[in-house]
Amino acid sequence: MASGRKKLSIIGAGNVGASCAVWAARRELADIVLLDIVDGLPQGKALDLAQAAPVEGFEARIAGTTNYADTAGSDVVIITSGLARKPGMSRDDLLAANTRIVREVAAETARYSPDAVLIVVSNPLDAMVYVAAKASGLPAHRVIGQAGVLDTARFRTFLAEAIGCSVKDISALLLGGHGDDMVPLPRYASAGGIPIEQLLPRSQIDAIVERTRKGGGEIVALLKTGSAYYAPAAASVQMAEAILLDQKRILPCAVRCDREYGVGGYWVGVPAVLGASGCEKIIEVELTAAERKAFDGSVGHVKELVAQVEGLLRK
Ligand code: LAC
Repeated sequence: MASGRKKLSIIGAGNVGASCAVWAARRELADIVLLDIVDGLPQGKALDLAQAAPVEGFEARIAGTTNYADTAGSDVVIITSGLARKPGMSRDDLLAANTRIVREVAAETARYSPDAVLIVVSNPLDAMVYVAAKASGLPAHRVIGQAGVLDTARFRTFLAEAIGCSVKDISALLLGGHGDDMVPLPRYASAGGIPIEQLLPRSQIDAIVERTRKGGGEIVALLKTGSAYYAPAAASVQMAEAILLDQKRILPCAVRCDREYGVGGYWVGVPAVLGASGCEKIIEVELTAAERKAFDGSVGHVKELVAQVEGLLRK
């Protein structure tokens, strides 16, 4: 029996996908379909999560499947499929394998949910959003990458700890690709509206910026078997929520920038307004010469990855 709720599909029932299902169910955002190619995994995790509903008291239907037909008519689809990195690997080392996977997943997803907004989480992120956009054929504003919400969440966590205030009071911005050359912008970070540059010495801010850039690798080195998932999933679900509830949230995401920031047709992290139709607006902020240089460097790296992806997609 159909419910009146929106539909959220999550492709990939690994750690990120399953954590997305948990955060989304707890928030009663939509009915959830969890899909994976490994038979039993999505069904088992979905059943387990559904049985948490009476305890946690959430209303959401949760189904697990290996069949894309069950994702039909989704409003939002979060794509988490692909390999995660292990210690010693960079996100870029996943390029060839994840291009193959994301290409197929995005095409199948769009076949059954042509009106959906896709949120891509697979790495290397900025290149995988590009793959998903090409393979799905969906309009660019409906294919969005999750990275900036996670990276700013790391930045905000470290800032709150250093300042000794609530994470809720920290607002921050970060631009560029989701690599170690991402560009956290301390000038645009504040605690309770107070610029952080008035609260912390420059050396401490610089150390926090560096830790943020390498935040994903810090967790890979600790876990040893894979990469982060609680925060990446929470970040993806915040984006899904903004779209499902048409919140018009300003969130840093990988969206297609053409003339914006002079990027020329690539998906890179910039502040965007997310609402029911996906990326509804890109906001351009003023950058100093040094910030601009760092941004251009990061975008240059994304362009190199996309050139490799184009070679792979032609095969
Ligand atoms: C991270 C990986 C998931 O930043 O890209 O944790």
